[in-house]
Amino acid sequence: MKKIGIGLLGLGTVGSGVASIINTPLGRHPLVAQLELIGVAVKDLKKKRDLAFSESILTSNPLEVIENPSVQIVIEVMGGIEPARSLIIKAIRAGKSVVTANKAVIARHGYEIANEAKAAGVYVLIEAAVGGGIPIIEPLKQSLGGNQITKVSGIINGTTNYILSRMDKEGANYDEVLKDAKDLGYAESDPAADVEGLDAADKIAILSGLAFGGPIKRSDIPVKGINCLKSKDVDYAKRLGYVIKLLAISERNEHQTTTKDSLPLSVWVEPTLVPGEHPLAGVNGVNNAILVEGIPIGQVMFFGPGAGSGPTASAVVADILNIAGIKLMGNSNSNLDPLLSAESWRDCYVAEENKISKKNYIRLITDDTPGVIGKIGTLFGQRKISIESIVQFDASNLEAEIVVITHQITKGQLNEALSDIKNLSEVKDIAASMGCL
Ligand code: NAP
Ligand code: HSE
Repeated sequence: MKKIGIGLLGLGTVGSGVASIINTPLGRHPLVAQLELIGVAVKDLKKKRDLAFSESILTSNPLEVIENPSVQIVIEVMGGIEPARSLIIKAIRAGKSVVTANKAVIARHGYEIANEAKAAGVYVLIEAAVGGGIPIIEPLKQSLGGNQITKVSGIINGTTNYILSRMDKEGANYDEVLKDAKDLGYAESDPAADVEGLDAADKIAILSGLAFGGPIKRSDIPVKGINCLKSKDVDYAKRLGYVIKLLAISERNEHQTTTKDSLPLSVWVEPTLVPGEHPLAGVNGVNNAILVEGIPIGQVMFFGPGAGSGPTASAVVADILNIAGIKLMGNSNSNLDPLLSAESWRDCYVAEENKISKKNYIRLITDDTPGVIGKIGTLFGQRKISIESIVQFDASNLEAEIVVITHQITKGQLNEALSDIKNLSEVKDIAASMGCL
């Protein structure tokens, strides 16, 4: 069988995992043995590396890899927006299919890249961009294609789930666990992307586009990360039977008026209280889980390691094999497989944040005086917001902490009620507000 030439842009956590699979084909699918590393681009040629291939194919010039006529598939695992975006486009224009794990680029420039790929008749596959080793992109593109998807939600950042799980189970220190996540290769080169929720927002933008058929604007997604989370809220949530997870959610919005051809979606990322018995509550460590809800399938959950060298390389190689298989068939038909190329088929947009509807957890700091809970309850009632529970926690120094869990309401309704509550003389602060499943 013919060899398929692979060009690798990046040899860090993910790139070295990919090289390792390609160089050890035994026991894997026979197509892996047909893959041949032709060129590998890195930033710093002087860095000490334990190479599983000849040093002669290493270069600090990514264009050398892209333009090498023996390279048929280009793997972009460098990270960052530029030069990654330009290099992907250069590879496409050189007639090469691309595999990338770069969610930051795809979330912002996916539409441009898809159009370039369509014009050039090549594939750009992105399985590793969301959920690490979990197959979620191809199932959304192919296996679930017969469904009307209504909601995609889940835990899609491994670093923050690892941090939250260890803090919860071991009482571990935030900075120490974050350092471990970096050492294990889970975190982004700037871990602010993980802890501020930006990486999860990139990923939900990608999942949303595939699930609902059209790209959304990444910058329209409201995002809160775990850097806003207070240990007190983790503790109160636990006492109420919940665990806090960083969730990313995209669902059809029923509150936004819309035109027939354009679908409004509620999309957001924030730390969220998950009931102890919910399937997402038991997803710990670096694991991710994505719940897809659709008609007629109902609910399916995809679970597995969400970051790290081996799992992410597994997803990258799956994409390489998909393209290699097509190349080896020697199909002279230049049309692209419509499921694999996943063209958009509908306009989607992010609905106004005020129209997002969800249950909420609110923590208030108040005077510890009789009647406060009654007054708060009345103000919620006047705004037609029904309350699932209202509990007073630690009362000390004449202060009380009151936690309210609302039923499903829009963000607009919540904001109006909170501005009334803030004006109560007994209320000192709205100390926390986040979603609740
Ligand atoms: P990484 O460990 O920082 O590796 C980046 C690699 O790219 C390094 O080998 C670096 O070279 C090379 N590089 C950077 N800029 C370059 C340039 N201008 N020219 C040539 N080479 C360049 O990053 P990573 O964790 O493997 O992540 C790579 C991508 O995969 C990112 O988009 C990330 O978001 C995504 N991803 C990562 C994971 C994960 O678990 N880590 C999971 C899913 C997706 P040097 O070796 O010389 O520094
Ligand atoms: N930094 C990312 C995470 C890598 O922790 O989920 C996987 O995309």
